[in-house]
Amino acid sequence: MATTTLLLISSLLHHFIILLLLLPYQQNPLTLAAAGGGEWKLLVSNTGVSNTGVSIMHMQLLNNDRIVIFDLTDFGPSNISLPNGKCRNNPKDLTLKIDCTAHSIEYDVASNSIRPLNVFTNVWCSSGAAMPDGSLVQTSGFNDGERNARVFKPCKDNSWDWQEFNTVLTQSRWYTTNHILPDGRQIIIGGRGRFTYEFYPKRIGAYASYNLPFLSQTNDPRIENNLYSFVFLNVDDNLFILANNRAILFDYVNGAMVKTYPTIPGGDPRSYPSSGSAVLLPVRNLQGGTNVTFGVWRSTKRIFHECK
Ligand SMILES: *[C@@H]1O[C@H](CO)[C@@H](O)[C@H](O)[C@H]1NC(C)=O
Ligand SMILES: *[C@@H]1O[C@H](CO)[C@@H](O)[C@H](O)[C@H]1NC(C)=O
Repeated sequence: MATTTLLLISSLLHHFIILLLLLPYQQNPLTLAAAGGGEWKLLVSNTGVSNTGVSIMHMQLLNNDRIVIFDLTDFGPSNISLPNGKCRNNPKDLTLKIDCTAHSIEYDVASNSIRPLNVFTNVWCSSGAAMPDGSLVQTSGFNDGERNARVFKPCKDNSWDWQEFNTVLTQSRWYTTNHILPDGRQIIIGGRGRFTYEFYPKRIGAYASYNLPFLSQTNDPRIENNLYSFVFLNVDDNLFILANNRAILFDYVNGAMVKTYPTIPGGDPRSYPSSGSAVLLPVRNLQGGTNVTFGVWRSTKRIFHECK
């Protein structure tokens, strides 16, 4: 049986995109792992060129098998126009206040086509999560976007575009982590110079940000190394949070530390800008005595540049 795998290679702060369709050797997909198997092909979209027009700084697979892609908005024009002669008129844009290009697109895997979208405030190094109804809620960012939320709802008829909600965060945030919670809210953790967390949407009477001293404890002076922390919901409903080279188990309902884990051997940072990655491995045997395993990788030994 023929199988195809879509491989998207993106780089957070670089501006080259490789969007490739990997066609594994058809008789035996397992030969994918073997040297020499498979073939790379550039995807050709409905624009007639193998180019998404927008750099893939951020992307999210939606529940309708489409991928929403977005880049920072104030870097000048992108390589794809907004539809119907529309222009984005944003007096707060730092580079191009009237901009007729798109900084977000939707890629439809099934039809191999792209659709330009209109995102208004700067989503540069913002963060988000998919909500229970499948909408992507993307909060924070840079400049005029640092306290905003934008919502992108999956749809079949190409009618939906980004919706913008102003000043919904209590603090400006950048390089933050969002995680969906069992009650359908998101928890929004940290960011540059932000040793706090908050929730979205807010409950009536709970508009605050709450302190999380773990974030100031893991902040390396000038380098940070604890941004875009890795957050997972544990099977006991607490949050596993890994920042820099340390991890905690955190009870977000009561704002209490449950556990502090040992520092990662060697002490090298894993989170941004050292930019390793982390994954929650498959959880087996949910009935009693479950052990949960988190895998964490590092990218380089240790990087010492500031991330701005
Ligand atoms: C995108 O780049 C191509 C190739 O350089 C160019 O022909 C086209 O006009 C560009 N489109 C936009 C909207 O910038
Ligand atoms: C979980 O890990 C501990 C320590 O390694 C082990 O003693 C225990 O048997 C494990 N439990 C399960 C359910 O695998």
